[in-house]
Amino acid sequence: MASFEVLMPLPGMPEIAARLAPRVKLHKLWEAADREAALAEIAPNVRAIVSTWATARVDAELMRRLPKLEIVVGFGVGYDHIDAAWAGRRGIVVTHTPGVLNEDVADLAIALTLAATRRLPQAERHLREGRWSSAAFPLTASLRGRVMGILGLGRIGKAIARRAEAFGLNVVYHGRRKQDGVAYPYCATPLALAEACDILMVAAPGGPETRHVVDAPVLAALGRDGVLVNIARGSLVDEAALIAALGDGAILAAGLDVYEHEPNVPAALMALDNVVLLPHVGSATRHTRMAMANLVVDNLLSWVDGKGPLTPTPETPWRR
Ligand code: 8YV
Repeated sequence: MASFEVLMPLPGMPEIAARLAPRVKLHKLWEAADREAALAEIAPNVRAIVSTWATARVDAELMRRLPKLEIVVGFGVGYDHIDAAWAGRRGIVVTHTPGVLNEDVADLAIALTLAATRRLPQAERHLREGRWSSAAFPLTASLRGRVMGILGLGRIGKAIARRAEAFGLNVVYHGRRKQDGVAYPYCATPLALAEACDILMVAAPGGPETRHVVDAPVLAALGRDGVLVNIARGSLVDEAALIAALGDGAILAAGLDVYEHEPNVPAALMALDNVVLLPHVGSATRHTRMAMANLVVDNLLSWVDGKGPLTPTPETPWRR
């Protein structure tokens, strides 16, 4: 089946190309000296795109250039960089990698919650910089008696909620709708959620519908003892409003794994001492990234073999 032509705009985990190479004809666009010329040459025959990183947008403009495009295979559960709605309307399948990363991302969410609340990076710096012998590290806030508000109680949100309960936190949530069979109290709006909790955990999908749902009023409602954690997408949080809220004490602290314009992190955020900053590593363990890579390959090969996609996005026209 080496005649099935696949466009890879960026390199991904080497295992992806290694597993695909014997079965399909891979066009590695990053190797082309002139990307535009290479794309123009292969465009008429490309039937699939393998999108390995969120930095490579798969928008309508790109897909329009590929008249034989059947499927876009995404690496990651989030696919806000792929225009899945546009693809869906044209019968193009889009897949993502749900399920396999829930536990590692949820672990990181709790790690950021603890790091931001207990000021763990700051405490470590206190030790490393030799300040312990002259002064004990100042007392910090605690998780005791706190309520975690989860914005987006999907697969990852639920994995975070289970962990939060084990830490003795009460859980409330907000999402598009109240879920049947979920016992955690539901808050009708992000503002109501922020009012009801003191640790606001952002775990909802990115994209235009959720852009800046965490804005200045939501941060004000979270309050002076409030902690914001974002392991989802930077686009959900108004970064300028967050910088202001951290700077003037409107909230206590934040733990961030994601940013509005990755990999750029505003200098104003870096200058703040009450925020813990990680470089989008939620799913970045060998275990989980291998599972994601395998699901990418399995989705494409299942399609090539005529068996349909394994994990299509909800916008996709595919029905089993
Ligand atoms: C990946 C993620 O780092 O799954 C997601 O949505 O954000 C992460 O697991 C990312 O998709 C890689 O681009």
